[in-house]
Amino acid sequence: MSGADAKPFGVYLHWPFCLSKCPYCDFNSHVRRDAIDEARFARAFAAEIAANAARVPGRVVSSIFFGGGTPSLMKPATVAAILDAIAAHWSIAPGAEITLEANPTSVEAARFRGYRDAGVNRVSLGVQALDDRALAELGRTHSAREALDAVGIARSIFPRYSFDLIYARPRQQPSEWAAELRRALTEAGEHLSLYQLTVEPDTPFAALHKAGKLDIPGEDRARALYDVTQEICADHGLPAYEISNHARPGGECRHNLVYWRGDEYAGIGPGAHGRLNIAGGDNTDAERHAIATEKRPEAWLARVEERGDGIVTDDVLTREEMADEFLLMGLRLAEGIEIARYEKLAGRKLDPARIAALHEHGLVETTAGGRLRVTLPGFPVLDAVVADLAA
Ligand SMILES: C[S@@+](CC[C@H](N)C(=O)[O-])C[C@H]1O[C@@H](n2cnc3c(N)ncnc32)[C@H](O)[C@@H]1O
Ligand code: SF4
Repeated sequence: MSGADAKPFGVYLHWPFCLSKCPYCDFNSHVRRDAIDEARFARAFAAEIAANAARVPGRVVSSIFFGGGTPSLMKPATVAAILDAIAAHWSIAPGAEITLEANPTSVEAARFRGYRDAGVNRVSLGVQALDDRALAELGRTHSAREALDAVGIARSIFPRYSFDLIYARPRQQPSEWAAELRRALTEAGEHLSLYQLTVEPDTPFAALHKAGKLDIPGEDRARALYDVTQEICADHGLPAYEISNHARPGGECRHNLVYWRGDEYAGIGPGAHGRLNIAGGDNTDAERHAIATEKRPEAWLARVEERGDGIVTDDVLTREEMADEFLLMGLRLAEGIEIARYEKLAGRKLDPARIAALHEHGLVETTAGGRLRVTLPGFPVLDAVVADLAA
């Protein structure tokens, strides 16, 4: 199959290190006092790529995503070595999307040219806020000015870029957020990720929240903040194509679409997840292995060096699990899911009475093309909608 008609196949690579730990974050990220032996990690990434390629050979890679942690702490040579390993074991489709997540500091922006030369063609920057007080409260080490400068550098170097903001922050009012978002949109290209602050268990923010010291918006204000977000972004031509992601048509993150559309991907590096169709060729609905690797970076490294991969979980999903996952991921998208594909996976019909009830409440709609999708008013209660349909 040529690159043009091959099925999407994504490769996710997790770089698990950060310079400091942000108090809201529960991603698999670690701070190390000593320098990281990047050459050794790069060899382990290459070994795990080879091990994955032996299980799903011949795939044409349509997207690659370096996520973290902070991948922009990697040397460009490390990124280049990993991309070389992917190209050696699979083939990379012409025009493949190759994204690297970056923290927006000047030190990191200085490496952007090197990443571009290595083959990266898209960056996603964690700007988080355009307000210095809010940035300090989020434990960020950059100012708003520095972040916007990094966005400007990204724009001048990469064909595509995106940045993330966190809203529904402590004490945040809809009018303030509206002004901040409008300002952000003047700097945005084709894509923005806008996340509502989540208080994750076992983070310093969770402890503050429990102690009554984190004044985050309640349900009504969170809803008002969400509504403002949708309205302003749609007005600027970047409607939500996923619950937290906005793009101009065609500017969507192709890699993340792989997850949400139930396509196939490999997860490489500490704490990475993959979904591979090992027995079924590239037929994503024939069979799916849910794969996860060891989370602790040094333990992952030792495991790869000893056994060739860091895999600690490798489960074949049941039809029911595949169907549930397809529903859960697919309904995050504005385009929704193909009902027939769900019913084939699940081996049962979606309950028409449940769809009718959700429809009556204005939370979902079905299309003439046989898709089911969540409406704008349905997105704030997406979890409940999914739970209802999967029951
Ligand atoms: C892997 S993280 C961070 C990438 C990069 N290290 C950074 O901080 O800029 C990806 C994004 O998730 C979002 N995020 C992380 N924790 C969050 C939380 N508790 N609530 C809402 N958004 C969160 C942030 O916007 C962040 O940029
Ligand atoms: S938000 Fe980004 S920089 Fe902060 S700890 Fe998480 S991964 Fe690291």
